[in-house]
Amino acid sequence: MATPIVPFDDRDGFIWMDGEFVPWRETKVHLLTHALHYGSAVFEGERSYDGNVFESLRHTQRLHKSAQILDFDIPFSVEQIEDAKAEALAKSGLESAYVRPIAWRGSEMMGVSAQSNTIHLAIAVWSWGDYFQDKMKGIKMTHAKWRRPDPATAPCEAKAAGLYMICTMSKHAAEKEGYADALMLDWRGQVAEATGANIFFIRDGAIHTPTPDCFLNGITRQTAIKLAKSRQIEVVERAIFPDELGTFSECFITGTAAEITPVAEIGDVKYTPGEITGNLVDDYDKLVRGKLTL
Ligand SMILES: Cc1ncc(COP(=O)(O)O)c(C=O)c1O
Repeated sequence: MATPIVPFDDRDGFIWMDGEFVPWRETKVHLLTHALHYGSAVFEGERSYDGNVFESLRHTQRLHKSAQILDFDIPFSVEQIEDAKAEALAKSGLESAYVRPIAWRGSEMMGVSAQSNTIHLAIAVWSWGDYFQDKMKGIKMTHAKWRRPDPATAPCEAKAAGLYMICTMSKHAAEKEGYADALMLDWRGQVAEATGANIFFIRDGAIHTPTPDCFLNGITRQTAIKLAKSRQIEVVERAIFPDELGTFSECFITGTAAEITPVAEIGDVKYTPGEITGNLVDDYDKLVRGKLTL
């Protein structure tokens, strides 16, 4: 399990918070904050490569959309957030970095209703390498006990903090058994995604990936589909069932943190990362660094 060397609340630097830069250790919120008690926060995970945040605008637009789904408006426009992210990145002095904007309901009301609560926004930037150790060997995944909820049960199009509770429980259970991650099914029993990344399979030269109808249609997922199509690879978005897992030869997962990560096994099923996965990993790396255009 990756333990941070320096705790996240005890670092040098500044965090952009509600319109100004605040020394890193002083960016506190009160114990009685609605978001802490009721999960009323939305966030983004973005990566900057060589000083440029990949798909920055789309991430900011998704942040706004996530907030609207949770019934709040972020008091900063998309343009203001774009400027703030650029300033936070510049102030960090980092070229390659992880960028974490988060918006949350504050402390004015502490019941379920939060009609009068102030909405806050912060943007933190830190250095973050590969999400998985030995990523290119292919990660080992197990099956999660928890399932992605029905869209009638949870706002699955929002990148909302509350939805990550089942991801953390699933990831912890996997790590306890020596796996890097877990495959989550959805409420119907169909293959959904990993705990923080979307999933793809390869069979006979074609790519198969679950239709994102009850989990995040990741920005990296959409990018991987475009990259595959630009290589004339067929991409099939469809319902995938767990009994099909053994019929695929390659598997990979996609996400801003995970980037494109090959998968070596899911439970009893083994995969050998091959040419298609390798090419997409390389293409993605070139794309995010501006060395390839789509
Ligand atoms: C649960 C989950 N699914 C999918 C993704 C992939 O989304 P993206 O590619 O936009 O980072 C993420 C990461 O944000 C995630 O946390």
